[in-house]
Amino acid sequence: MGGNYKIAVIPGDGIGPEIVGQTLRVLDQIADLYGHRFEYKELLAGGCAIDATGEPLPPATVAECQKSDAVLLGAVGGDRWDHLPGDLRPEMALLGLRGQLGLYANLRPAIMYQQLRDACPLKPAITGESINLLVVRELTGGIYFGPRGRRATADRGEEAFDTEVYSEAEVERIARMAFEIARGRQRRVTNVDKANVLESSRLWRAVVTRVAADYPDVALNHMYVDNAAMQLVRDPKQFDVIVTTNMFGDILSDEASMITGSIGMLPSASLGRGNFGLYEPVHGSAPDLAGQDRANPIATILSAAMMLRYSFGLTREADAIERAVERVLADGYRTGDIMSPGQTLVGTEKMGQLICGYIAQGA
Ligand code: IPM
Ligand code: MG
Repeated sequence: MGGNYKIAVIPGDGIGPEIVGQTLRVLDQIADLYGHRFEYKELLAGGCAIDATGEPLPPATVAECQKSDAVLLGAVGGDRWDHLPGDLRPEMALLGLRGQLGLYANLRPAIMYQQLRDACPLKPAITGESINLLVVRELTGGIYFGPRGRRATADRGEEAFDTEVYSEAEVERIARMAFEIARGRQRRVTNVDKANVLESSRLWRAVVTRVAADYPDVALNHMYVDNAAMQLVRDPKQFDVIVTTNMFGDILSDEASMITGSIGMLPSASLGRGNFGLYEPVHGSAPDLAGQDRANPIATILSAAMMLRYSFGLTREADAIERAVERVLADGYRTGDIMSPGQTLVGTEKMGQLICGYIAQGA
């Protein structure tokens, strides 16, 4: 017996609508083969929402997301809206969704696909057979959400400030998430902070260390963020799960995705309490590629696989999508961003169609 799932769909801006379009096609294929029903509700957020309603995250969008089992998002933003003041920029839609939906844990896998080995900027001696690490980024606290503002000073002109704040409760829940996930992987957690300078990091490290006592089967080590940035390129194989703050996670997850050479391939999940989650590709809205059938839909398709796995518990179905992606790459099909000599160049739509075909064959 298949299940019935309500999915809030936010195509967003730039290449968002195209990559989401192919992802829904893949989900429909899964629904057909495995007897599920996915009910989509298309919603506005980002630049297109600014154009239509004057605000990046209309309250109706948040309300509909809250009524859904999960959210699938393409990408938001673009140069067209870059002149707008901070609180009206498309990016505010992402921060608003994270905050208002309570999505405190951001899971960003960085995987080097063997088939895309040539795209990896690191030497084979450094990467070995594979890179497969997971950044678990705190997503609703820290400097992104702490008090900020501007004030006049008597003699130094205007002054601006942002504040890094973390409570024990906030650190504890993200640490638990990281340890739980590590149990399904290689059972290693690296905590990344700046405890040699920041008081918030000293509390963070103390809480992570305390939580670790409940997971004696998982190895924990600590690293300062500057060293972690260096170690990621020096010896990425040493990492399994990295747990870190909102801002450090923002920076390190971009670095981690780039060293795999497959940034156009990487999905992400943002989780809160229960099974609810928001799923989106790691890459952005790439306005220069929009509307040309050139974007790579794989990161969004793999985000949908994460949705099936984490929010709906549909492991077989998630596996089927991931296997189909590996097959399509093994057979040499590439979008422009991952193209190399001797492979077959395909567009966004063709890539979606091929993946659906492999799923049908594999079921
Ligand atoms: C990300 C992005 C966002 C962030 C921006 C667009 C607000 O860089 O999801 O990593 O900083 O979190
Ligand atoms: Mg970022």
